[in-house]
Amino acid sequence: MPNFQLLAVAADNFLHDVSTLSPASPSTEWIRFLFYFVTAVGAFILAVVWGVLFYSLVRFRRKRNIRSSGEEQPTSAATEPPQVYGSIPIEIAWTVAPGIIVLLLTLVIVRTEMEVRVRQPKDLAGAHAVTAAVVGHQWWWEYIIKSDGDKTIDVVTANEIHLPAGSDNEEKAKSRPVYLTLESADVCHSFWVPRLAGKTDLIPGRVNEMWFETTEPGLYVGQCAEYCGAQHANMLLRVYIDTPEEFAAWLENEMKPAVNDAGQAEGQRAFMTQSCVNCHTIRGTQAHGKFGPDLTHLAARKTFAAGMIELNRDNLRKWIGDPQKIKVECLMPAFGLSERNVNLITDYLMTLK
Ligand code: CUA
Repeated sequence: MPNFQLLAVAADNFLHDVSTLSPASPSTEWIRFLFYFVTAVGAFILAVVWGVLFYSLVRFRRKRNIRSSGEEQPTSAATEPPQVYGSIPIEIAWTVAPGIIVLLLTLVIVRTEMEVRVRQPKDLAGAHAVTAAVVGHQWWWEYIIKSDGDKTIDVVTANEIHLPAGSDNEEKAKSRPVYLTLESADVCHSFWVPRLAGKTDLIPGRVNEMWFETTEPGLYVGQCAEYCGAQHANMLLRVYIDTPEEFAAWLENEMKPAVNDAGQAEGQRAFMTQSCVNCHTIRGTQAHGKFGPDLTHLAARKTFAAGMIELNRDNLRKWIGDPQKIKVECLMPAFGLSERNVNLITDYLMTLK
């Protein structure tokens, strides 16, 4: 059942720049340089090969040689170019030249690899780094912020993460590198925000690492880049790079328990007495489920269902009524809630800023 309003919102992710050719982090700058460099070397070789080829085609083409009788004379051996066998200078030239090209490419690739690779945690001390864990689920992202500078934090959120921008202001230059560990709760996924970093896979039973840093605040979007099942295409990434002040404010709010609005007591009761609590956590309440996204500050997000849908009352109400109509095969079933309960729960969740 297509829902065009929802589709239009999902497309929002694709209005943003997702080109690896507009890097916003040192590692992606290296990746772009590598791309241009390899392309240039390849283009140079192509130009040389085609140059020689076309020169030979023209220079040594068979020439018509008409006798006075009008009869065509066959090409004689005398008109062919000299045939060369076993020339040592030529052998050396076409061995050494490709050798130099391969060496050059190897050096640039190794250098890029070193720049992209995660530095050791000991380099983190005093670096104003933010560390977080990313857990891939079918089909959403869990984020656990672990530390901010030397403050240890343990705050869980889902699908939209905020991180700080560094400053390139000469006087108070401060880099804010971000270190992520990546794990999977089920199948293989891949974390790919093209402007911030290369792809890193999330593999069951393994912890991978990546890092990036940027000085440009803004929304960076991406996409799960490893086929992970029916809703792989709707496993979108949204990374908000905030100014340090905005980030501090966001983090402070995320660390608080959920808003407890007395006016929503009925909706809260409806949520707590239904199956919702088995899968979802709302900190500060008796909902401690770990299977689905943490909803403590759901209403502070712009989207839900892994960036698929804009978060507003109408969309959330449709989702709670029957998620399968929106995200087929997602792991949240329709619970057959009454219209009244759907409305109560929706109103309650919309207060969780
Ligand atoms: Cu997760 Cu594809």
